[in-house]
Amino acid sequence: MNLKDLYIDFFVSKGHKQIPSAPVVPENDPSVLFNTAGMQPLIPYLMGQPHPYGTRLVDYQKCIRTNDLESIGDKTHHTFFEMLGNWSLGDYFKKESINYSFEFLTKVLNIPINKLAVTVFNGEDGIPKDTESAEIWKNLGINKIAYLGKEDNFWIAGEAGPCGPDTEIFYFRSDDEVPDNFDPNDDRWVEIWNNVFMQYYKDNNGITELPKKNVDTGMGYERVTAILEGVNDNYLSSVWIDIIKKIESLSKFSYEENPESIRIIADHIRTSVFILGDEAGIKPSNTDQGYILRRLIRRAIRHAKKLEIESSDWENIIANMIIDKYKKYYSELNKNKDIILDELTKEKNKFNKTLEKGLREFEKIITNVDKVLNKDLAFKLYDTYGFPIELTVELAKEKNIEVDVNGFKEKFKAHQELSRTASSGKFKGGLAGDSDKEIKYHTATHLLNAALKQVVDKNVHQKGSNITAERMRFDFSCDHKLSDEEKQKVEELVNNWINQKIDVTVKEMSKEDAIKSGAECMFIEKYPDIVTVYSIGDISKELCGGPHVKNTSELGKFKIIKEEASSAGVRRIKAILE
Ligand code: SER
Repeated sequence: MNLKDLYIDFFVSKGHKQIPSAPVVPENDPSVLFNTAGMQPLIPYLMGQPHPYGTRLVDYQKCIRTNDLESIGDKTHHTFFEMLGNWSLGDYFKKESINYSFEFLTKVLNIPINKLAVTVFNGEDGIPKDTESAEIWKNLGINKIAYLGKEDNFWIAGEAGPCGPDTEIFYFRSDDEVPDNFDPNDDRWVEIWNNVFMQYYKDNNGITELPKKNVDTGMGYERVTAILEGVNDNYLSSVWIDIIKKIESLSKFSYEENPESIRIIADHIRTSVFILGDEAGIKPSNTDQGYILRRLIRRAIRHAKKLEIESSDWENIIANMIIDKYKKYYSELNKNKDIILDELTKEKNKFNKTLEKGLREFEKIITNVDKVLNKDLAFKLYDTYGFPIELTVELAKEKNIEVDVNGFKEKFKAHQELSRTASSGKFKGGLAGDSDKEIKYHTATHLLNAALKQVVDKNVHQKGSNITAERMRFDFSCDHKLSDEEKQKVEELVNNWINQKIDVTVKEMSKEDAIKSGAECMFIEKYPDIVTVYSIGDISKELCGGPHVKNTSELGKFKIIKEEASSAGVRRIKAILE
């Protein structure tokens, strides 16, 4: 049986409710482009908001990390991965959590005890040493324990948010005899699971206790599958092997001859399939998530060229395999199959038009470059031939030439309206960091959604939103540019509602009742059976995790500052509250 199913079944048998994977693009969280950890969509609940599914949760979550794109090509890195996680929201704490992990590893996965070791928090900055976890491990017969400091055994996503000491579980991945002493720096020991005891909240003002003591655990599905199957190259595990073989069969080179290019194609097409298949409707573009997608596809195309793949629809052959493989767990892939295949091909055709010329130009440029390719040339390759920077870096590296990447990035920023976070690619605390202003914008998106339905078309649907303390952005389905009159009417309507001082109310109900009552939502299949519904008088009713203001009078004056196309059939409004 698949590790995912074993994991879910085990925790369900321990009273956990399975929650669906959230979309790869976080809803209403501007601090990050993609979900990068299983806990991320759960931040409001770790902060104390009651979760509609209760206090024991389990899931597998689609995660995307693209901050180290250049590492892709080795044996262990992936841009997309699935994280298995179980949570206690103020329910059980260290003892049960460690016992569950131990039972799952030794009884379900049948890992011998002597191949397991753990690290626990040694205490630092006034937070005490976690002797309790160490005792629990010892009582279970695990004596290979290393005590480490904050750097290793205190977990926080970014700079602010829920956090706490963790205990990490290691597995001895080698046929050598297991040493008596556990040295976490010995790379035969690999981390397989991380149990975080989230009882604190950290921000600029320091550390405070959370209202409840939570547990957040995370296990990387790809890595643990490879370990259990005894392969030391993740791409040779059952997660990948058929995809690798397929790419090999399309290529002029074998996996042995060029593993990097084959892995890059496998990884980048899989991530692209998941981004395109996500309900957020991301398409290749030059900004935000769309640009990450474009870079992934283009890099895969360049490696397909390196492998001399000749098939005219290689990208779709691979994408189809991936969709088939994952559709049981992620039905959205099948639902959006046509979009996925179509967009991949469109992007391939678009890039193929400039790739050849760009490569020729590159060859010309490079003959006159001594050691470092300057930012202007790198930018020219981007601007004229659509070469993402990592592609230029990769091509240059093959000739032992470096690229002024920082210089390029500055230039790039000056030319692009990239989101604040796109460039840093950092995950900072999600909704946990919501300021009052962001909460106001959140409520304003509901009013805007309702106003667009009244003024433009009752079939307008939200396609996404992004909020910062400075402004809100709202994407919606619409086939035309809004006229000045429409924009003015929308603005007036929202401001009327604000002036009417309407109460915002929240109610828990079954998903079925919520839908029957006409509540609106973006991704219906992503919601649990019991949902929270926010209503603004009888103007708006939406399934939503909050938070919101209590009364519309708190919002101030609403003003649209821009209306533009976002992608085909989707318009984007940027607005502010004054
Ligand atoms: N949040 C922790 C991690 O990502 C445990 O889930 O490792």
